[in-house]
Amino acid sequence: MIDKQSLHGEWSSRFAFILAATGSAVGLGNIWKFPYIAGENGGSAFVMVYVACVVLMGIPIMMAETMLGRRAKQNPVDTMRTLTQEAGADSRWQYLAWMGMVAGFLILSYYSVIAGWASAYTLKAVMGDFFGSNAEKTEVMFNDFISSPLRLIFWHSFFMLATMVIVSKGVRNGLEKAVQMLMPVLFIMMFLLVGYAMTTSGYQQGLHFLFSPDFSKITSKVVLTAMGQAFFSLGLGMGTMMIYGAYVPKNVSIGKSAIIVAGADTIVALLAGIAIFPIVFANGLHPDSGPGLVFETLPIAFGNMTGGWLFGVLFFLMLVVAALTSSIALIEPAVAWLIESKDMTRDQACVRAGLVAWALGFVTVFSFNRWADIHVFGHTLFELIDGLTANIMLPAGGLAIAIFAGWVMKQQHTVQELALPDSQYVIWKALISYVAPAGVFLIFLHVVGVL
Ligand code: PHE
Repeated sequence: MIDKQSLHGEWSSRFAFILAATGSAVGLGNIWKFPYIAGENGGSAFVMVYVACVVLMGIPIMMAETMLGRRAKQNPVDTMRTLTQEAGADSRWQYLAWMGMVAGFLILSYYSVIAGWASAYTLKAVMGDFFGSNAEKTEVMFNDFISSPLRLIFWHSFFMLATMVIVSKGVRNGLEKAVQMLMPVLFIMMFLLVGYAMTTSGYQQGLHFLFSPDFSKITSKVVLTAMGQAFFSLGLGMGTMMIYGAYVPKNVSIGKSAIIVAGADTIVALLAGIAIFPIVFANGLHPDSGPGLVFETLPIAFGNMTGGWLFGVLFFLMLVVAALTSSIALIEPAVAWLIESKDMTRDQACVRAGLVAWALGFVTVFSFNRWADIHVFGHTLFELIDGLTANIMLPAGGLAIAIFAGWVMKQQHTVQELALPDSQYVIWKALISYVAPAGVFLIFLHVVGVL
């Protein structure tokens, strides 16, 4: 059965893999990004398209990506090389893995800056800075914070260092342990915040904003952003699931795992929305106030609820840890490639990759202050990196994975890897061969104005 093992070891169990994949999926994307882009894109319209993308593209592509990794058990570049040989296909499929690694660096570069904000806010929570907060205070606090490049660089460096330390410890000691305790605590915290949101006067309005269907607000920008967010939040299209798949033992069911991971990821994002929008409306804040949304809303909750000090500290700490379990997933494809193909030790690979992402992070740091006025195509540099990666590179990577798994790989191999009952295999096959690729492709065409 198992012909070879990944060079880096394996997850100790199916549960360990699910935790790690959930750790990769659940992160800033759910708690920081989902609410603010839902807010900018009309709320419920965005949420509907988002959920549809998760089900129709996200889950089948997550299965496909994991499957590719597990079959070849190597870093994404060599995985694609091995699998194209096996399928007798064009070796240029490797570019898919290269694009993924570039996307990983670009995402990590800004991810670390934002996770740095969360780290700084953990300290603010400890210092009791949120006591008696109101909308005005939290807005001033946030704007004051991001206006200082030095402070942002400090926290960005802090977070990137933490990421490198964990990644350098490898699969079982680093990645697995880091995720194990976190998920249950994160869930409890989210429910607690929703509990607070229910007591505010904005609860009904918040729910209405997120869930009452409004088709009139669905524009091509909403659809593209929602699709991009589905790929980003599930951590698809850039090799992460491929490399995490390479560490998956043969007896693990890829289908069940993907459904659990995608389900958990979606629940956390929706809970974050349900916690945040009532506070937005109850305090006269604006749903479309951008990347600062979480940082301007939740401190109001912590500053006014019983036990708010403790919950505030716990929440931001959780956010940092959730971000860490995603940031290690962003860099792992490149690190694995450096180790396997460039003969580096894990430590050397971490330092190199970390330095590159760290240096790139300065662009994001400055785009919130010194370079805030620099706009390309009407977007700040941060928005540009984010849009390019989430809305274009990840869906394009996902599209390629879908075509490869649906059309290029031999059917007998996908049947064997997925080991699904016939009726379920047929559904997956239809989604991966037709629905998912057509969905991504049509959305791209629509956005560039061809459709
Ligand atoms: N899914 C992570 C989040 O939502 C980000 C991520 C993207 C992680 C791509 C891995 C790969 O925060």
